[in-house]
Amino acid sequence: MKKYKITLIKGDGIGPEIIDEAVKVLDAVAACSNFQFSYDEALMGGIAYDVTGDPLPRETIIKSLACDAVLFGAIGGPKWDSLPREKRPESGLLRFRKELGVYANLRPAIVYDELINASSLKPEIIKGVDIMVVRELIGGIYFGEPKGRTEDKGWNTMVYTRSEVVRIAHHAFKIAMTRDKRVCSIDKANVLDVSQLWRDVVTDVSAEYPEVELTHMYVDNAAMQLVLNPKQFDVMLTGNIFGDILSDEASMLCGSIGLLPSASVGDKIGVYEPIHGSAPDIAGQGIANPIATIASASMMLRYALDENEAADKIDAAIKKALSEGYRTGDLAQYDAKEVCSTSEIGSIIANYIQR
Ligand code: IPM
Ligand code: MG
Repeated sequence: MKKYKITLIKGDGIGPEIIDEAVKVLDAVAACSNFQFSYDEALMGGIAYDVTGDPLPRETIIKSLACDAVLFGAIGGPKWDSLPREKRPESGLLRFRKELGVYANLRPAIVYDELINASSLKPEIIKGVDIMVVRELIGGIYFGEPKGRTEDKGWNTMVYTRSEVVRIAHHAFKIAMTRDKRVCSIDKANVLDVSQLWRDVVTDVSAEYPEVELTHMYVDNAAMQLVLNPKQFDVMLTGNIFGDILSDEASMLCGSIGLLPSASVGDKIGVYEPIHGSAPDIAGQGIANPIATIASASMMLRYALDENEAADKIDAAIKKALSEGYRTGDLAQYDAKEVCSTSEIGSIIANYIQR
């Protein structure tokens, strides 16, 4: 029997509730497969700061580098907003990404037919949308030097090196080869030198993937095209901050940000997490939507553990729960037959898997 070691980082806000449901679903899928999971918990974010004084304790990095994959909930909340920047939960997350070298953030935006009415866009615009945002995650303006702040001035630097762009571009083209073979690279090359480098390097790398069609788009236009005609996109390749913004926008095509998973991968251990935040306003009430985290667990099975059959089972169970009309509160107005709590919908999905 194969045994996979998963590090669970529950984090803050709704993090613990949604991770618990993903674990329930992982155990259900393990029960009908030829592998088992063992879990080890580690601290990050506000809770880590409260317990250890550091939003990313060394032990969390050590545990994460010693497992097969990390399943991550969410971090942050108003309680920690006034801390100095390096103590804030977000700084822990950014350092964590850097330490693990997870340079590629994959954020699929898939519109479920069952939830076609949940989007703020018209059904005919979004039916069949299937986009993969490939966001560079450990470079760009999030990490560039110099940066600083005085009383009257604040500054950050958007910088990319050729090798950083080469590596993320290869990742995007390889993913496109498994999909519709189209990459749209997003930049601001009409204004920014860093974007001109990005565009030149992506074009160079594309020569190695003659089957993939490459287009370039300015980020402002891309933001508009995403709501005008999202079906034109297959893989969207972006730098760190443009991807942060566009992936939130893409998530709304799908109705609820509570649905969308992500994978952050590099050369070491991958991190699998919902794209939404810690939602402190609804934490502890049992009403959060765990589907994004459950779908992240499915991505973990697929990308980190190569257990595609098990991942398919989870994806099918999520679809079935939605098509049967089970909804958490965020989606209650959209064709709901029954409004469920966080743990009820987790159990429904787990039960479908075991049947
Ligand atoms: C995300 C989040 C993070 C980011 C924050 C919490 C640091 O918005 O994962 O998209 O900006 O990358
Ligand atoms: Mg974000």
